[in-house]
Amino acid sequence: MKIMYVASEVAPFIKTGGLGDVAGSLPKALAAEGHEVAVFCPLYSAIPATWREKMTYLKNAYVQLGWRNQYCGVFEYTDDEVTYYFIDNEYYFARGQVYGEYDDAERFAFFSKAVLEILPDLDFKPDVINCNDWQTALVPVYYNLMFAGREYYQGMKTVFTIHNIAYQGRYGREILEYVLGIDDAHYRSGFMAMDGDVNLMKAAIVASNAVTTVSPSYAEEIQTPYYGHGLDPILRDCSYKLHGIINGIDQETFDPAHDPYLFKNYTTRTLKNKAVNKAELLAMCGLEGTDETPVIGMVSRFAGHKGFDLIEAVLDEILEEDVRLIVLGKGEWRYEQMFMEAKRRYPGKISASIMFSAELASKIYAGSDMFLMPSKSEPCGLAQMIALRYGTIPIVRETGGLKDTVTAFVDYLGTGNGFTFHSYNAHDMLHVIREACGVFKYNKEAWKKLVVGGMESDFSWKTSAKKYLEIYQSL
Ligand code: GLC
Repeated sequence: MKIMYVASEVAPFIKTGGLGDVAGSLPKALAAEGHEVAVFCPLYSAIPATWREKMTYLKNAYVQLGWRNQYCGVFEYTDDEVTYYFIDNEYYFARGQVYGEYDDAERFAFFSKAVLEILPDLDFKPDVINCNDWQTALVPVYYNLMFAGREYYQGMKTVFTIHNIAYQGRYGREILEYVLGIDDAHYRSGFMAMDGDVNLMKAAIVASNAVTTVSPSYAEEIQTPYYGHGLDPILRDCSYKLHGIINGIDQETFDPAHDPYLFKNYTTRTLKNKAVNKAELLAMCGLEGTDETPVIGMVSRFAGHKGFDLIEAVLDEILEEDVRLIVLGKGEWRYEQMFMEAKRRYPGKISASIMFSAELASKIYAGSDMFLMPSKSEPCGLAQMIALRYGTIPIVRETGGLKDTVTAFVDYLGTGNGFTFHSYNAHDMLHVIREACGVFKYNKEAWKKLVVGGMESDFSWKTSAKKYLEIYQSL
């Protein structure tokens, strides 16, 4: 099969979150099954020069978007497995940030139209086009409205993957004709409309031949009002073509035996080196503590749905325990402030680094004993799988992909790989944090089994890649 994979971020070139990781690793796993895979991504100015130097300029074209006729350059980079095409237009992509510009709708509409327009120039005729999240939601829409009838494009199938339903690409009706170049009739028919807005994600769900999301539980959840962010009725209507497939992680990148950022690499046979990472991490963060002190790590965007309001409610109670809390991330000011303040009140017990850093993230995955993810919703979540790979035991709320990858430890049965709570309730979370600390301190044998079991778990893409291929094939 020829597979076209379209995403607004692709690791290692550019990444702001889990989508980048998935777009960086799933296509390789598809290619490993013997398929031809091409990945499409905007050529942002933020892509480091070291990568740009490796790309070759292919050709350029002009793309009609509404009344605008825009330049589109194409650069190519090929590694052993996958071909990457980067869409160049400095007006749209030489910006300060990847997302959050005033004209994001236009920027990503351009990208979505361009990737379709240039296919004949690339001599690439995909059997299936898999796009991701609202930024590429217009690909199946443009395909159906403007390309499907052209000879070169006939018979292509479209798949739309939802990584987070909270971000839908909602805009006023006026952008439809003026910016996107789509006839207002498609608003009046209801196709592009949702609750009085143009809604790109909704249109993609309707337009695509199949819809996937990143865990089986999330596929169920988003059909309910609590998780559906208004799109639940649409998803219930489309449930016949909705599939939940759990993400994998790149097990070569996230491997404590080879991760270059660690103080000391380790395997299940050299766990004493994990202890070295813990001691060095504590020292680096200016925290006191011994090997006996439970260290809880967090690496997250500080967004409401990641569960920070639960932490806010019981932060003092957590820090009054004999624990150390090491936090890395940034986001909502209110939570940044909360951690900075806690640092003043509990010196030596909590460290908060308000930034993103892949290096510090690795050091936290390796140097912590536990990893906390109390998300209100979590489509898949990658960090809990990475933590397990590093022998760091997850404490999670039972939602979405967290529920599908972490099961509660039950001592007398010898089952489970982490600590979980069900209700979105701060004291339920506090209770399992205390439970985890208890097992860590007083049941060392069980703890070691958890650590080794976690490190040995298989979160590779192999099984999930096959599930994507089954869907592609069925179309
Ligand atoms: C989004 C989701 C996260 C998921 C990731 C990759 O970032 O919030 O749960 O793991 O996409 O699919």
